[in-house]
Amino acid sequence: MSNELRSPEWAWIDGRFVPWAECVLHARAQAIMTGASVFEGIRAYWNPQREQLYVFRLQEHLDRLATSMKIMRMKQAVPAEMGSASVELLRRNNFRDDVHYMPVAYVGFGEGYGAQTPPVQEGFFITAVTKPPSRALEAGLSVCVSSWQRISDNIMPPRVKAAANYQNSRFALLEARTNGYDYAIFLNSAGKVSEAPGACIFVVRADQVYTPPVTAGILESITRATLIQLFRERMGHSVIEREIDRTELYVADEVFLCGTGMEVTPVIAIDHVSVGLGRPGRWTREIQDLYFRAARGEEATLSHWLTPVYAPVQV
Ligand SMILES: Cc1ncc(COP(=O)(O)O)c(C=O)c1O
Repeated sequence: MSNELRSPEWAWIDGRFVPWAECVLHARAQAIMTGASVFEGIRAYWNPQREQLYVFRLQEHLDRLATSMKIMRMKQAVPAEMGSASVELLRRNNFRDDVHYMPVAYVGFGEGYGAQTPPVQEGFFITAVTKPPSRALEAGLSVCVSSWQRISDNIMPPRVKAAANYQNSRFALLEARTNGYDYAIFLNSAGKVSEAPGACIFVVRADQVYTPPVTAGILESITRATLIQLFRERMGHSVIEREIDRTELYVADEVFLCGTGMEVTPVIAIDHVSVGLGRPGRWTREIQDLYFRAARGEEATLSHWLTPVYAPVQV
């Protein structure tokens, strides 16, 4: 386990709150041996003025967890208490900082990669840690176009947020860092721009915003959908969802990555080619600001996206 994680007191597994160290699976579980699990990464944002922690788009994440489980042909349903248990977990840990947490549906013991009948054991756990803001939000990232191709729908579907998919991302990240870049962008099996490890991509060129479609080998990102809506409804710009060529990245005015973990992070160079002026662009800054205002509860009309932790909640 990473030394960077400052362990909180509590975790949740299979219906019970347990001390952090007791949130464990057996080493022989299929989730461990073959990566047979699906998960969500969810953020909760601390608002110091209101002394409130807001979970961002909880229901959308629970819905996507169910979608991932369905495609994986997992047998169980997402437990009804998954949302309220996750909120209770944040409360029990008394978090007063920004938090990143992960509800996971795992495959336990079972032969045949866990695909055998009778069905193998399945279960759920949630872990949460505090997460300070990344420097890259301000400074931006220097990225490469990876020589690794994004997994595709009929191989390892990126629409499923499966743990095993992240080995593809790990290859790309290792390559990027070995070659002196901060991060990577994938092309898909058609050679078009897909997404980045753990993040979707937006491109601004000549006052028009573009993003690859959900059929480009991407996760159906909740942040991507959020930003499309914010661009349209709050900034008055439509977002065109269409295939993007690699060379369009080199001539873009602005590029940014987005995701629950990545938030809205500017890209300032791609393959050592400056993006625009080589610093975060104006539209990137505007949408970044709007996103954080919404996530921290500073946009009253968007409060339906938030679940307050330190108030009575019914999820
Ligand atoms: C592969 C991949 N793409 C995109 C995203 C962004 O998705 P979301 O905005 O729902 O967090 C993530 C992060 O969860 C991801 O893992």
